Amino acid sequence: MNKICPFILLTILVMSCHSIYEPQQTPKQPSFTSSPTKIPMPSPAPSPTIPNKPIFQKSLWIGRGVNLGNALEAPEEGAWGVVLQEEYFQLIKDAGFNSVRIPVRWSAHADQQAPFTIQTAFFDRVDWAVNQAISRDLTVVLNMHHYEEIYEDPKSHAQRFLALWAQISDHYKNYSDHLFFELLNEPHNALILESWNHLAQEAITLIRKTNPDRPIIVGPGDWNSISHLDYLKLPEEDQNLIVTFHYYQPFRFTHQGAEWVSGSNAWLGTRWNGSDIELQSIRFDFLSASLWGKAHNRPIYLGEFGAYSKADIDSRALWTSAVARTAEAYGFTWAYWEFCAGFGVYDPSLRQWNLPIKNALLPDE
Ligand code: BGC
Repeated sequence: MNKICPFILLTILVMSCHSIYEPQQTPKQPSFTSSPTKIPMPSPAPSPTIPNKPIFQKSLWIGRGVNLGNALEAPEEGAWGVVLQEEYFQLIKDAGFNSVRIPVRWSAHADQQAPFTIQTAFFDRVDWAVNQAISRDLTVVLNMHHYEEIYEDPKSHAQRFLALWAQISDHYKNYSDHLFFELLNEPHNALILESWNHLAQEAITLIRKTNPDRPIIVGPGDWNSISHLDYLKLPEEDQNLIVTFHYYQPFRFTHQGAEWVSGSNAWLGTRWNGSDIELQSIRFDFLSASLWGKAHNRPIYLGEFGAYSKADIDSRALWTSAVARTAEAYGFTWAYWEFCAGFGVYDPSLRQWNLPIKNALLPDE
Protein backbone atom coordinates (compact mmCIF):
# COMPACT_ATOMS: atom_id res chain seq x y z
CA MET A 1 0.00 0.00 0.00
CA ASN A 2 2.95 2.29 0.70
CA LYS A 3 3.90 2.15 -2.95
CA ILE A 4 0.48 3.08 -4.30
CA CYS A 5 -0.52 6.71 -4.42
CA PRO A 6 -3.39 7.02 -1.94
CA PHE A 7 -5.55 8.90 -4.42
CA ILE A 8 -5.26 6.19 -7.03
CA LEU A 9 -6.05 3.60 -4.40
CA LEU A 10 -9.09 5.52 -3.24
CA THR A 11 -10.34 5.97 -6.80
CA ILE A 12 -10.06 2.23 -7.42
CA LEU A 13 -11.84 1.49 -4.15
CA VAL A 14 -14.62 3.97 -4.76
CA MET A 15 -15.17 2.65 -8.28
CA SER A 16 -15.28 -0.94 -7.13
CA CYS A 17 -17.63 -0.08 -4.27
CA HIS A 18 -20.04 1.83 -6.42
CA SER A 19 -22.35 -1.12 -6.98
CA ILE A 20 -22.62 -1.94 -3.27
CA TYR A 21 -23.21 1.61 -2.09
CA GLU A 22 -26.67 1.60 -0.50
CA PRO A 23 -28.89 4.58 -1.12
CA GLN A 24 -29.96 6.30 2.08
CA GLN A 25 -33.09 4.67 3.40
CA THR A 26 -33.25 6.47 6.73
CA PRO A 27 -31.95 9.71 8.13
CA LYS A 28 -28.18 9.91 8.58
CA GLN A 29 -25.51 8.81 6.23
CA PRO A 30 -25.55 6.14 3.54
CA SER A 31 -23.71 2.93 4.24
CA PHE A 32 -21.00 0.84 2.68
CA THR A 33 -21.87 -2.80 3.18
CA SER A 34 -18.38 -4.12 2.57
CA SER A 35 -15.12 -3.18 0.99
CA PRO A 36 -13.35 -5.24 -1.64
CA THR A 37 -9.69 -4.64 -0.87
CA LYS A 38 -7.89 -5.16 2.43
CA ILE A 39 -6.96 -1.87 4.02
CA PRO A 40 -4.41 -2.22 6.79
CA MET A 41 -4.55 0.05 9.80
CA PRO A 42 -2.39 3.04 9.02
CA SER A 43 1.00 2.66 10.52
CA PRO A 44 2.33 3.59 12.98
CA ALA A 45 -0.89 3.32 14.99
CA PRO A 46 -2.06 4.87 17.24
CA SER A 47 0.38 7.80 16.85
CA PRO A 48 -0.21 9.17 13.37
CA THR A 49 1.79 12.13 12.13
CA ILE A 50 0.04 15.37 12.97
CA PRO A 51 1.15 18.42 10.93
CA ASN A 52 2.92 21.04 12.97
CA LYS A 53 0.36 23.75 12.19
CA PRO A 54 -1.45 25.63 14.98
CA ILE A 55 -4.92 24.37 14.11
CA PHE A 56 -3.74 20.74 14.04
CA GLN A 57 -2.13 21.22 17.44
CA LYS A 58 -5.22 22.94 18.88
CA SER A 59 -7.49 20.27 17.48
CA LEU A 60 -5.59 17.72 19.58
CA TRP A 61 -7.08 19.37 22.67
CA ILE A 62 -10.37 17.71 21.74
CA GLY A 63 -8.68 14.30 22.00
CA ARG A 64 -11.24 11.84 23.29
CA GLY A 65 -14.58 13.46 24.08
CA VAL A 66 -18.20 12.80 24.86
CA ASN A 67 -21.40 14.50 23.75
CA LEU A 68 -23.61 15.90 26.50
CA GLY A 69 -26.57 14.82 24.39
CA ASN A 70 -30.33 15.00 25.02
CA ALA A 71 -29.97 17.97 27.39
CA LEU A 72 -29.62 21.48 25.94
CA GLU A 73 -30.62 20.40 22.43
CA ALA A 74 -33.98 19.03 23.61
CA PRO A 75 -36.89 21.43 23.06
CA GLU A 76 -36.41 22.34 26.76
CA GLU A 77 -33.66 20.96 28.96
CA GLY A 78 -35.14 17.94 30.75
CA ALA A 79 -37.75 17.19 28.07
CA TRP A 80 -35.62 14.27 26.86
CA GLY A 81 -34.73 13.05 30.34
CA VAL A 82 -31.39 14.79 30.85
CA VAL A 83 -30.72 17.82 33.04
CA LEU A 84 -26.99 18.55 33.21
CA GLN A 85 -25.48 18.20 36.68
CA GLU A 86 -22.22 19.58 37.99
CA GLU A 87 -21.09 16.09 38.95
CA TYR A 88 -21.29 14.95 35.30
CA PHE A 89 -18.41 17.24 34.36
CA GLN A 90 -16.28 15.88 37.19
CA LEU A 91 -17.09 12.29 36.27
CA ILE A 92 -16.15 12.97 32.66
CA LYS A 93 -12.90 14.62 33.67
CA ASP A 94 -11.98 11.90 36.18
CA ALA A 95 -12.71 9.16 33.65
CA GLY A 96 -10.02 10.60 31.40
CA PHE A 97 -11.98 12.31 28.64
CA ASN A 98 -10.38 15.46 27.20
CA SER A 99 -13.41 17.31 25.91
CA VAL A 100 -17.18 17.63 25.81
CA ARG A 101 -19.36 18.52 22.85
CA ILE A 102 -22.36 20.50 24.02
CA PRO A 103 -25.28 20.31 21.59
CA VAL A 104 -27.54 23.36 21.97
CA ARG A 105 -30.94 24.16 20.43
CA TRP A 106 -30.42 27.94 20.26
CA SER A 107 -33.30 28.30 17.80
CA ALA A 108 -35.86 27.34 20.46
CA HIS A 109 -34.67 30.06 22.84
CA ALA A 110 -34.57 33.12 20.60
CA ASP A 111 -37.13 35.51 19.16
CA GLN A 112 -38.66 34.67 15.82
CA GLN A 113 -38.44 38.31 14.71
CA ALA A 114 -35.35 40.43 14.11
CA PRO A 115 -33.06 41.01 15.94
CA PHE A 116 -33.76 37.39 16.99
CA THR A 117 -32.59 37.96 20.57
CA ILE A 118 -31.44 34.88 22.47
CA GLN A 119 -33.02 34.66 25.94
CA THR A 120 -30.68 35.80 28.69
CA ALA A 121 -31.67 32.94 31.00
CA PHE A 122 -30.76 30.44 28.28
CA PHE A 123 -27.38 32.08 27.71
CA ASP A 124 -26.83 31.87 31.48
CA ARG A 125 -27.53 28.16 31.43
CA VAL A 126 -25.20 27.49 28.49
CA ASP A 127 -22.52 29.66 30.15
CA TRP A 128 -22.85 27.53 33.25
CA ALA A 129 -22.28 24.34 31.26
CA VAL A 130 -19.34 25.82 29.31
CA ASN A 131 -17.73 27.09 32.54
CA GLN A 132 -18.19 23.75 34.30
CA ALA A 133 -16.19 22.12 31.53
CA ILE A 134 -13.54 24.79 30.98
CA SER A 135 -12.83 25.12 34.71
CA ARG A 136 -11.93 21.41 34.69
CA ASP A 137 -9.66 21.73 31.67
CA LEU A 138 -12.12 20.03 29.39
CA THR A 139 -12.11 21.52 25.90
CA VAL A 140 -15.63 22.46 24.77
CA VAL A 141 -17.20 22.09 21.35
CA LEU A 142 -20.27 24.32 21.48
CA ASN A 143 -22.58 23.73 18.57
CA MET A 144 -25.95 24.67 17.10
CA HIS A 145 -28.19 21.60 17.10
CA HIS A 146 -31.69 20.77 15.90
CA TYR A 147 -32.44 24.04 14.12
CA GLU A 148 -35.12 21.98 12.37
CA GLU A 149 -36.68 24.78 10.32
CA ILE A 150 -33.45 25.73 8.58
CA TYR A 151 -32.94 22.26 7.15
CA GLU A 152 -36.31 22.55 5.38
CA ASP A 153 -36.21 26.19 4.35
CA PRO A 154 -32.70 27.63 4.46
CA LYS A 155 -33.58 30.84 2.64
CA SER A 156 -36.18 31.95 5.17
CA HIS A 157 -33.94 31.13 8.12
CA ALA A 158 -30.50 32.27 6.93
CA GLN A 159 -30.82 35.72 8.43
CA ARG A 160 -31.91 34.30 11.79
CA PHE A 161 -29.14 31.68 11.76
CA LEU A 162 -26.55 34.40 11.17
CA ALA A 163 -28.07 36.63 13.84
CA LEU A 164 -27.87 33.77 16.33
CA TRP A 165 -24.19 33.26 15.49
CA ALA A 166 -23.53 36.99 15.75
CA GLN A 167 -24.87 36.91 19.31
CA ILE A 168 -23.15 33.66 20.29
CA SER A 169 -19.78 34.71 18.90
CA ASP A 170 -19.96 38.12 20.54
CA HIS A 171 -21.03 36.59 23.85
CA TYR A 172 -18.11 34.15 23.98
CA LYS A 173 -15.43 36.25 22.30
CA ASN A 174 -13.38 36.61 25.50
CA TYR A 175 -13.74 33.01 26.61
CA SER A 176 -10.86 30.56 26.86
CA ASP A 177 -9.12 29.31 23.71
CA HIS A 178 -10.43 25.90 24.74
CA LEU A 179 -13.92 26.84 23.60
CA PHE A 180 -14.50 25.82 19.97
CA PHE A 181 -17.59 26.67 17.91
CA GLU A 182 -19.39 24.22 15.61
CA LEU A 183 -21.63 25.88 13.05
CA LEU A 184 -24.52 23.46 12.69
CA ASN A 185 -25.20 19.83 13.46
CA GLU A 186 -25.92 17.57 10.49
CA PRO A 187 -27.12 19.89 7.72
CA HIS A 188 -29.48 17.91 5.48
CA ASN A 189 -32.57 18.09 3.27
CA ALA A 190 -32.56 21.48 1.52
CA LEU A 191 -29.46 22.65 3.36
CA ILE A 192 -26.74 20.76 1.48
CA LEU A 193 -24.27 21.43 -1.35
CA GLU A 194 -24.22 25.07 -2.46
CA SER A 195 -26.84 26.31 -0.03
CA TRP A 196 -24.85 24.92 2.91
CA ASN A 197 -21.47 26.05 1.52
CA HIS A 198 -22.79 29.55 1.06
CA LEU A 199 -24.37 29.82 4.51
CA ALA A 200 -21.37 28.28 6.26
CA GLN A 201 -19.07 30.73 4.51
CA GLU A 202 -21.22 33.67 5.62
CA ALA A 203 -21.29 32.43 9.20
CA ILE A 204 -17.50 31.96 9.28
CA THR A 205 -16.93 35.50 7.97
CA LEU A 206 -19.28 36.88 10.61
CA ILE A 207 -17.73 34.90 13.49
CA ARG A 208 -14.25 36.01 12.44
CA LYS A 209 -15.15 39.65 13.17
CA THR A 210 -15.19 38.90 16.89
CA ASN A 211 -13.24 35.63 17.12
CA PRO A 212 -10.36 35.86 14.65
CA ASP A 213 -8.52 32.73 15.78
CA ARG A 214 -11.06 30.57 17.56
CA PRO A 215 -11.34 27.11 16.00
CA ILE A 216 -14.59 26.72 14.06
CA ILE A 217 -15.82 23.24 13.24
CA VAL A 218 -17.76 22.62 10.04
CA GLY A 219 -19.18 19.39 8.68
CA PRO A 220 -20.47 18.34 5.27
CA GLY A 221 -24.11 18.05 4.23
CA ASP A 222 -26.22 14.89 4.23
CA TRP A 223 -26.04 14.61 8.03
CA ASN A 224 -22.29 15.26 8.21
CA SER A 225 -21.64 12.19 6.12
CA ILE A 226 -18.26 11.24 4.69
CA SER A 227 -19.86 10.89 1.29
CA HIS A 228 -20.51 14.65 1.19
CA LEU A 229 -17.00 15.78 2.17
CA ASP A 230 -16.13 16.29 -1.47
CA TYR A 231 -18.91 18.85 -1.84
CA LEU A 232 -17.78 20.90 1.14
CA LYS A 233 -16.15 24.18 0.09
CA LEU A 234 -14.41 26.16 2.82
CA PRO A 235 -12.66 29.52 2.69
CA GLU A 236 -9.08 28.63 1.72
CA GLU A 237 -7.57 31.52 3.64
CA ASP A 238 -9.10 30.50 6.99
CA GLN A 239 -6.49 28.42 8.79
CA ASN A 240 -8.54 27.84 11.95
CA LEU A 241 -11.13 25.40 10.69
CA ILE A 242 -11.64 21.79 11.74
CA VAL A 243 -13.79 19.47 9.64
CA THR A 244 -16.19 17.06 11.30
CA PHE A 245 -18.11 13.98 10.22
CA HIS A 246 -20.50 11.61 12.02
CA TYR A 247 -20.39 7.83 11.85
CA TYR A 248 -23.21 5.41 12.56
CA GLN A 249 -22.46 2.55 10.14
CA PRO A 250 -23.84 -0.05 9.79
CA PHE A 251 -26.94 2.04 10.45
CA ARG A 252 -29.15 -1.02 10.94
CA PHE A 253 -26.87 -2.09 13.75
CA THR A 254 -26.36 1.28 15.48
CA HIS A 255 -29.97 2.43 15.17
CA GLN A 256 -31.83 -0.82 15.73
CA GLY A 257 -35.02 -0.15 17.68
CA ALA A 258 -34.43 3.63 17.67
CA GLU A 259 -37.83 5.21 18.24
CA TRP A 260 -37.04 8.14 15.93
CA VAL A 261 -36.14 5.93 12.94
CA SER A 262 -39.19 4.38 11.34
CA GLY A 263 -38.90 0.68 10.58
CA SER A 264 -35.93 0.24 12.88
CA ASN A 265 -37.65 -2.40 15.02
CA ALA A 266 -37.13 -4.78 12.11
CA TRP A 267 -33.36 -4.48 12.70
CA LEU A 268 -33.51 -5.59 16.35
CA GLY A 269 -31.08 -8.42 16.99
CA THR A 270 -28.52 -7.18 14.46
CA ARG A 271 -25.10 -7.98 15.86
CA TRP A 272 -21.65 -6.62 15.13
CA ASN A 273 -18.87 -9.13 15.61
CA GLY A 274 -15.74 -7.32 14.57
CA SER A 275 -15.23 -9.63 11.60
CA ASP A 276 -12.62 -8.83 9.01
CA ILE A 277 -15.17 -7.45 6.61
CA GLU A 278 -16.81 -5.31 9.30
CA LEU A 279 -13.47 -3.83 10.30
CA GLN A 280 -12.50 -3.25 6.68
CA SER A 281 -15.67 -1.32 6.18
CA ILE A 282 -14.80 1.16 8.94
CA ARG A 283 -11.24 1.48 7.68
CA PHE A 284 -12.43 2.06 4.14
CA ASP A 285 -14.80 4.83 5.22
CA PHE A 286 -12.21 6.48 7.49
CA LEU A 287 -9.52 6.24 4.83
CA SER A 288 -11.59 8.39 2.52
CA ALA A 289 -12.16 10.97 5.31
CA SER A 290 -8.45 10.93 6.07
CA LEU A 291 -7.46 11.40 2.43
CA TRP A 292 -9.87 14.30 2.17
CA GLY A 293 -8.35 15.88 5.29
CA LYS A 294 -4.82 15.49 3.91
CA ALA A 295 -5.73 16.84 0.49
CA HIS A 296 -7.40 19.90 2.04
CA ASN A 297 -4.99 20.28 4.92
CA ARG A 298 -7.71 20.27 7.61
CA PRO A 299 -7.82 18.34 10.90
CA ILE A 300 -10.68 15.86 11.15
CA TYR A 301 -13.04 15.47 14.13
CA LEU A 302 -15.39 12.52 14.43
CA GLY A 303 -18.02 14.48 16.33
CA GLU A 304 -20.58 11.70 16.84
CA PHE A 305 -20.57 7.91 16.81
CA GLY A 306 -22.46 5.45 18.97
CA ALA A 307 -24.71 2.41 19.00
CA TYR A 308 -28.15 2.61 20.64
CA SER A 309 -28.90 0.69 23.83
CA LYS A 310 -31.27 -1.72 22.06
CA ALA A 311 -28.28 -3.46 20.45
CA ASP A 312 -26.58 -6.16 22.54
CA ILE A 313 -23.86 -4.81 24.77
CA ASP A 314 -21.08 -7.08 23.47
CA SER A 315 -21.60 -5.88 19.91
CA ARG A 316 -21.87 -2.27 21.06
CA ALA A 317 -18.60 -2.46 22.96
CA LEU A 318 -16.78 -4.14 20.07
CA TRP A 319 -18.06 -1.61 17.54
CA THR A 320 -17.35 1.36 19.81
CA SER A 321 -13.80 0.22 20.39
CA ALA A 322 -13.21 -0.47 16.68
CA VAL A 323 -14.51 2.95 15.65
CA ALA A 324 -12.58 4.85 18.34
CA ARG A 325 -9.29 3.01 17.66
CA THR A 326 -9.61 3.38 13.90
CA ALA A 327 -10.32 7.10 14.30
CA GLU A 328 -7.23 7.48 16.46
CA ALA A 329 -5.09 5.51 14.03
CA TYR A 330 -6.03 8.00 11.32
CA GLY A 331 -5.32 10.95 13.63
CA PHE A 332 -8.96 12.00 14.12
CA THR A 333 -10.14 13.40 17.42
CA TRP A 334 -13.57 12.17 18.50
CA ALA A 335 -16.67 12.53 20.70
CA TYR A 336 -18.88 9.58 21.60
CA TRP A 337 -22.65 10.04 21.24
CA GLU A 338 -23.55 10.34 24.14
CA PHE A 339 -23.09 10.64 27.91
CA CYS A 340 -26.20 9.50 29.80
CA ALA A 341 -29.25 8.84 27.61
CA GLY A 342 -30.11 6.13 25.09
CA PHE A 343 -26.54 5.57 23.87
CA GLY A 344 -25.16 6.39 27.30
CA VAL A 345 -21.65 5.65 28.48
CA TYR A 346 -22.95 6.53 31.95
CA ASP A 347 -26.12 5.32 33.68
CA PRO A 348 -27.52 8.17 35.81
CA SER A 349 -30.14 6.01 37.53
CA LEU A 350 -27.52 3.56 38.80
CA ARG A 351 -24.95 6.37 39.07
CA GLN A 352 -22.49 4.06 37.39
CA TRP A 353 -20.45 4.01 34.23
CA ASN A 354 -21.60 1.63 31.54
CA LEU A 355 -18.27 -0.15 31.82
CA PRO A 356 -18.19 -2.08 28.54
CA ILE A 357 -18.71 1.19 26.65
CA LYS A 358 -16.42 3.24 28.86
CA ASN A 359 -13.64 0.66 28.56
CA ALA A 360 -14.14 0.51 24.83
CA LEU A 361 -13.71 4.28 24.63
CA LEU A 362 -10.94 4.70 27.19
CA PRO A 363 -9.08 1.38 27.34
CA ASP A 364 -6.01 2.71 29.13
CA GLU A 365 -7.72 4.67 31.90
C1 BGC B 1 -29.19 13.64 17.03
C2 BGC B 1 -29.80 12.78 18.09
C3 BGC B 1 -29.70 11.34 17.72
C4 BGC B 1 -28.29 10.98 17.36
C5 BGC B 1 -28.22 9.57 16.87
C6 BGC B 1 -27.80 13.21 16.85
O1 BGC B 1 -27.17 14.08 15.97
O2 BGC B 1 -29.22 14.96 17.41
O3 BGC B 1 -31.12 13.17 18.29
O4 BGC B 1 -30.05 10.56 18.83
O5 BGC B 1 -27.78 11.87 16.41
O6 BGC B 1 -29.13 9.35 15.85
